[in-house]
Amino acid sequence: MKGKVSRGIFVCQVCGYQNPKWLGKCPGCGEWQTMVEDIPVDKRTYKFFSPEEETNQRPQAIDKIDIAHEQRLSTHIQELDRVLGGGIVPGSIILVGGDPGIGKSTLILQALSKLSVDGPKVLYISGEESAKQIKMRGERIKIHSKNLYVVTETSLEKIFQIVKELKPIILAVDSIQTIYTADLGSAPGSIGQVRETAGRLITLSKKTGISTFLIGHVTKEGAIAGPRILEHMVDTVLYFEGNRSHPFRILRAVKNRFGSTNEIGVFEMGSYGLRQVLNPSELFLSERPLDVPGSVVVASIEGSRPILVELQALVTSSSLGVPRRTVIGIDYNRVSLLIAILEKKVGLNLMGHDIFVNVAGGVKVDEPAVDLGTVAVITSSFKEKPIPSKTMVMGEVGLAGEIRAINQIEIRVAEAEKLGFTRCILPKNNLDRLGKKASMELVGVASIGEALKRIL
Ligand code: TYD
Ligand code: MG
Repeated sequence: MKGKVSRGIFVCQVCGYQNPKWLGKCPGCGEWQTMVEDIPVDKRTYKFFSPEEETNQRPQAIDKIDIAHEQRLSTHIQELDRVLGGGIVPGSIILVGGDPGIGKSTLILQALSKLSVDGPKVLYISGEESAKQIKMRGERIKIHSKNLYVVTETSLEKIFQIVKELKPIILAVDSIQTIYTADLGSAPGSIGQVRETAGRLITLSKKTGISTFLIGHVTKEGAIAGPRILEHMVDTVLYFEGNRSHPFRILRAVKNRFGSTNEIGVFEMGSYGLRQVLNPSELFLSERPLDVPGSVVVASIEGSRPILVELQALVTSSSLGVPRRTVIGIDYNRVSLLIAILEKKVGLNLMGHDIFVNVAGGVKVDEPAVDLGTVAVITSSFKEKPIPSKTMVMGEVGLAGEIRAINQIEIRVAEAEKLGFTRCILPKNNLDRLGKKASMELVGVASIGEALKRIL
């Protein structure tokens, strides 16, 4: 920071203390590394609109506000539309975060291309790739749209100029970490720059009705000096996740002012870009080994739809004093708890064994409804007994070894029927309320001991 010329001031993010120079420790509250460069209010230069400009907004009675004409723009990618809550709301800001290389640019380019083919003008601004590189990617994923404009630019002031001239209906900024405003002396990607540039783009969107995608890289550690600080400022936050060694990608809404969160979209990365997967259960179960110990199918609800996934377990005798417990794709503490219940209530002697639990396909499940499946698959591997491949298992396990009811049982059962399962183990309480409406055999169980007897 020495010798740096700055037009800004530095503000502590914890207590608001201001200083003309950067300080490692805030004299106001004593916290370290909390000073961030900011622009004094009197120096703020909004190129599009000045804050003093007279407002033409008038308060309206809430029951007089007309939303019938609120048209959402479809991206023509069903999976993306669903995660957005039914398409893009005019004037909304959507933050798309994810690891570098996961496919964010590809997804947004595909969406913009489909949307603009016989539609409105859209603008894709890249701070990372030249127009030629974008075109090369476009060729690969077969983008042909006369209304998709691309430009390489990192200066916010110039971006405003371009937007003013082109007047697109949708704007994508890839990535927000590469954009800077000359009003701040700090480098692009710093907290001050990210917050300020995003803030101005948000103001632009809200005033003009342009919908904006902000793309942000998230690092593995989750310490995103950047996008995460924007979460509260934007309307919708989508995370694009996946394991780079698997082709599957999951688009997850973690915040949505215009739709439900927890909704997911599943994609597959191929040599011609991303392909949406309309029936994820089929895909996740496609490589399942049949009738081997340590494999079971469970139903997890993601947003509004059920997804069947395969849980795997491997239990081997351990040579370590403290046996190993490795868990991928499911909550570690939950699995530890279920192992303890198995030892105490069923009398399995798992103490001297290493236990590995994995959700196949690189998916994550986070629901108590998969408890019974976890317990069953560990027991299956321990006893070297396969769980029949046409049996599906669901239910929450309580600390006393009781099987507790789970929600949305009908759609889970329906999904299992659709995929050809013939037998379903489920909580007894659920079965009583379900009234045996399914064409498959439904087995209601009340305790973990009873469940294991019926499953294995
Ligand atoms: P990209 O969209 O550039 O990721 P991000 O913007 O999140 O950093 O995707 C880059 C990766 O995707 C890269 O490793 C190559 C791969 N890819 C394909 O496998 N097929 C394709 O058709 C494209 C365009 C990319
Ligand atoms: Mg990219």
